[in-house]
Amino acid sequence: MPHNPLSRRTFLALSGSSLAALVVTACTPGGGLVDPATTTSLIAGAATSSTAPSGGAVDVEIALRALPDRVEIRPGTLTDVWQYTAEVLAGDPATVEPIIGSYLGPTLRFRRGERVRLIFDNGIPDESIVHWHGLDVPEDMDGHPRFAVPEGGTYVYEFTVDNRAGTYWYHPHPHGSTGPQVYAGMAGLIIITDEEEDALSLPRGEFDIPLVLQDRTFNGDQLSYLPNGMMDRMRGFLGDEILVNEHIDAEFPVAARSYRIRILNGSNSRIYKLAWDNGSSLTILTTDGGLLESPVTRPYVTLGPAERVDLWVDFTSDEIGGTRTLVSLPFSAPQMGGMMGGTTGLPLGARFDVASFPVDRTVDSTDPLPDRLSDPGFVGVDGAVNSDAPRVVTLAMARGSWTLNGRTFQMTNVAEDENVTHGTTEIWEFHNARGGMGGGMGGGMGEGLAHPMHMHGQQFQILDRTVDDQGRAEWETVSAGYVDDGWKDTVLVMPGEKVRVLRRFTTFPGLFLYHCHNLEHEDMGMMRNFRIDTT
Ligand code: C2O
Ligand code: CU
Repeated sequence: MPHNPLSRRTFLALSGSSLAALVVTACTPGGGLVDPATTTSLIAGAATSSTAPSGGAVDVEIALRALPDRVEIRPGTLTDVWQYTAEVLAGDPATVEPIIGSYLGPTLRFRRGERVRLIFDNGIPDESIVHWHGLDVPEDMDGHPRFAVPEGGTYVYEFTVDNRAGTYWYHPHPHGSTGPQVYAGMAGLIIITDEEEDALSLPRGEFDIPLVLQDRTFNGDQLSYLPNGMMDRMRGFLGDEILVNEHIDAEFPVAARSYRIRILNGSNSRIYKLAWDNGSSLTILTTDGGLLESPVTRPYVTLGPAERVDLWVDFTSDEIGGTRTLVSLPFSAPQMGGMMGGTTGLPLGARFDVASFPVDRTVDSTDPLPDRLSDPGFVGVDGAVNSDAPRVVTLAMARGSWTLNGRTFQMTNVAEDENVTHGTTEIWEFHNARGGMGGGMGGGMGEGLAHPMHMHGQQFQILDRTVDDQGRAEWETVSAGYVDDGWKDTVLVMPGEKVRVLRRFTTFPGLFLYHCHNLEHEDMGMMRNFRIDTT
C-alpha cells in the first residue's frame, strides 16, 4: 500500500495543540457542505464543550485517511477501490492492525476506558464522515451525515471508548452515498477488550480470526454497483461473488484446537444463514454489544447487514488434512421484482460457501469453552417508561420509497414522536408492515423485504418477536438462527415480523440516527433522527 511521507509529517506537525487550526483550515473550503453551527461548535469546542476535541491528553492518536487505491482482488487484475488507511501518531502502535492481504480498513484495537483521538482526512472525491458502528459516543463524534466533510476535508474525533469487549466496526455515513462508499471498500473492524474478557481463557492472537463478509459483482476488472439500477436500489444490492476480508474463495488454515472466529456481515444488503458443512452446531460468544452471559448454540446463525457474532469453534477432533467449510444455507426470501426484471447470479437465500478452514496441524495448547462469559448488566423491562404503549416504528414502502412511519430522512429534523427524554428507558417496536403501496402493486415491490434496523448510541435488548400468519413460513426458515440473548445495535426484522426492543437513553443527549442498515434503503432515506432531550 503506497504511503505518503509528506502527509505523515503534516499530521505529526498538526497533532496536539494545533488541532483547532487544523479544523478551521479543513472546514472553511467546504463550508457549503458543513452545517455552519456545527463547524463553529467544533472550533469553539475546546472552550465550551467537554465532548468536542480538547487537544488535550489522549491515550492514542490515530490519523485515519480515506483514499482511492488500486488493489489485486482477482488474481492478475487491479481493481479501483476506496480504502481507509490508519497510522498511530501517539500511543500504542498495536492499536492499528492491518488485515493481512486485504484492502479493508485496518482493525482498530481499543481498550475499554481508553481516550482516543482520530483525525479523519477525506481523500476520496466525495463528501464523507466516519461512524463507529456500535460505539456509544457523543453526538458530534458519531459520524452523523450533517458532519460530512468534502474531499480534502478533515474531521477530528475524540471520545472515550466505553463499550463492552467485542467486535464493532467503522464505515462512512454521508447521506445518500453510504452504500457506494462501503461498497468501494471503506469499512474496518473495531475490536474492544476489557478486564472482564481478560479474565477468560478465550482463544487469542493467531487463534482469533476476524471475517468480514461482503458480496460484490465485477464487470471485468472493476467493481460494479447497482448494475440493475432502480431494481437494485429498491431491493438492496446483491453481489454475485462472496468475499471474506476481500478475498474470493477465502481459506484460513487452522490448527486442531479451539478458535474464536469473529464475523461481521459487512454486506450492503445480503443476509447470511451461517452453518458448518459438517452439520455441527454453532457456539456463539458475542452479539453486537459484546460477550453474552454464557455461550449459546444454534443450528445456524442468521446474520443481517451490520450484525456481528463471535463464534467459539473447536477443531480439536477434526481430522488433520480435512477441511471444515462455513456455508450460507438456503432460506426462503422473496426475490422482489419478478416483474421489474433485474438479475443477480446469487439470489438472496441461495446456498453458497463462505470460507473454508483446512485443519493442517496439531498444537499443544487449546482453550476450553468457559461456562460463563460476562455479566451483561441487562435492565428490567419494568423500568421502561412506555411499557403500556411501546414506540412503534413501521417499516413500509410509501410514495415509491422505503420509509419509517411513512417518513424519509431529513438532515436535522425530528418529528414529535422522535423525541426521547434523557435518563429514561423505552420499548421500541419495529414492525415490518410489508405492502403499503396503496394498492396497485399489492404483492409486488413493497412486499416482503427484510429490514435490518440499527439504532445509534447505546445497545438495546431484544424483548420478543412475533410474526403474522402471512409471513410465518418464510420466517421459520431463518428464525432458529436469531441470537437475541445479548446486547444488540442492529436487529433483522423479517416481513410480517414485529420486534420489541428495550433501550436506555442514559448516556449522551443530542441528535442520533436510527435506520435500516440495508445500505441502499438507508441511502434512499429509510433513516430518521431521534433526539435525546435533557429536560
Ligand atoms: Cu452502521 Cu448508522 O450505521
Ligand atoms: Cu430496509
